[in-house]
Amino acid sequence: MKLDTTIIHAGTEPDPSTGAIMTPIYQTSTYVQSAPGKHKGYEYARSQNPTRFALEAAFAAIENAKFGLAFSSGVAATDAVIKLLSPGDEVIAAADIYGDTYRLFSKVFEKFGIKFHYVDMQNAENIRPFINANTKLIWTETPTNPLMNVADIAALATIAKQHHVLLCVDNTFASPYLQTPLDLGADIVMHSATKYLGGHSDVIHGCLMLNDQQLRDQLYFIQKSCGAVPGPQDCFLVLRGIKTLHVRMQRHCENGEKVAHFLRNHSGIGKVYWCGFEDHAGYEIAKKQMRGFGGMMSFTLADDSIENAIRLLSSTKVFALAESLGGIESLINHPATMTHASIPREERIKNGLCDSLIRLSVGIEDVQDLMDDLHQAIG
Ligand SMILES: Cc1ncc(COP(=O)(O)O)c(C=O)c1O
Repeated sequence: MKLDTTIIHAGTEPDPSTGAIMTPIYQTSTYVQSAPGKHKGYEYARSQNPTRFALEAAFAAIENAKFGLAFSSGVAATDAVIKLLSPGDEVIAAADIYGDTYRLFSKVFEKFGIKFHYVDMQNAENIRPFINANTKLIWTETPTNPLMNVADIAALATIAKQHHVLLCVDNTFASPYLQTPLDLGADIVMHSATKYLGGHSDVIHGCLMLNDQQLRDQLYFIQKSCGAVPGPQDCFLVLRGIKTLHVRMQRHCENGEKVAHFLRNHSGIGKVYWCGFEDHAGYEIAKKQMRGFGGMMSFTLADDSIENAIRLLSSTKVFALAESLGGIESLINHPATMTHASIPREERIKNGLCDSLIRLSVGIEDVQDLMDDLHQAIG
């Protein structure tokens, strides 16, 4: 089946008890057994839930994976991957990863004896000097949040395989509609399903997709043992969101392209970061590994000052000033004080994330309204 058909039908079978076309929300904590150990495959809902299983099948299908696992947030999915490791193990992570991924690594896991190296992955070769016998995982994000830097997934996967190291790709920004990292050699894909997969800004959710049975069993063990499982209502919302992923992403890409060019041609704007520009440093790689460039971008003002940035951020009427991204509605965000506030300022600046940077999640409204709104806010 083609991706657009898979997206609609993945994981959903008519409900066996009624034929309901939409997966029921199995709002239950436990399942009745006819005798001790005699049950229908469902014992306790932290370990098994039919709504979650349907969603996990859908997750697998849309990333072209064998297995999917659902978590109560993107951060919980990331947490599960790091729990595969032991004290003394080392991780090579992209230098400009999402702020709270950095916080989880540096403030939670470092004190358990896991060492993280933060490396600019725009050139895959940069990771080689950091690989040693303790390296167990490469963690990348592409395009990155919020600077839209691009990493070559296939090149990273080749290096990872040479050294028997796992490669995990945070695919939140692209969504599986634009990029399928497992097809490029990655071992694990992670999503904040809060974003494009859910698509409607009404749920916090995360997931992992992968092909290896042993790795899946280890991660399922962590999922049920640590308990960061999503509730069935949230699973239903994400399952429903996924069904329109392809049409939403098409419009995100169309609107994103127009807004990116509008900003670039506006005299009030300084630099625009969008990986669909032919002069973007990662354009050739993005063109090779992505099916479109998406609706995420960031920019600075020509008159670049924090005061002007804050004035713009407070002046939009269609773009809502809020954290998060990937929903149908357009959002505007100030990474330095919002999504990336957990990264120390020196680290942020070193990676190019300046105080006045503004991030947009371009939604699927009428694009002229979006450009008019930005135009009036730029002033
Ligand atoms: C790229 C990226 N990865 C991971 C996360 C964390 O996901 P969640 O907020 O669902 O825990 C986010 C959240 O913004 C994100 O943007």
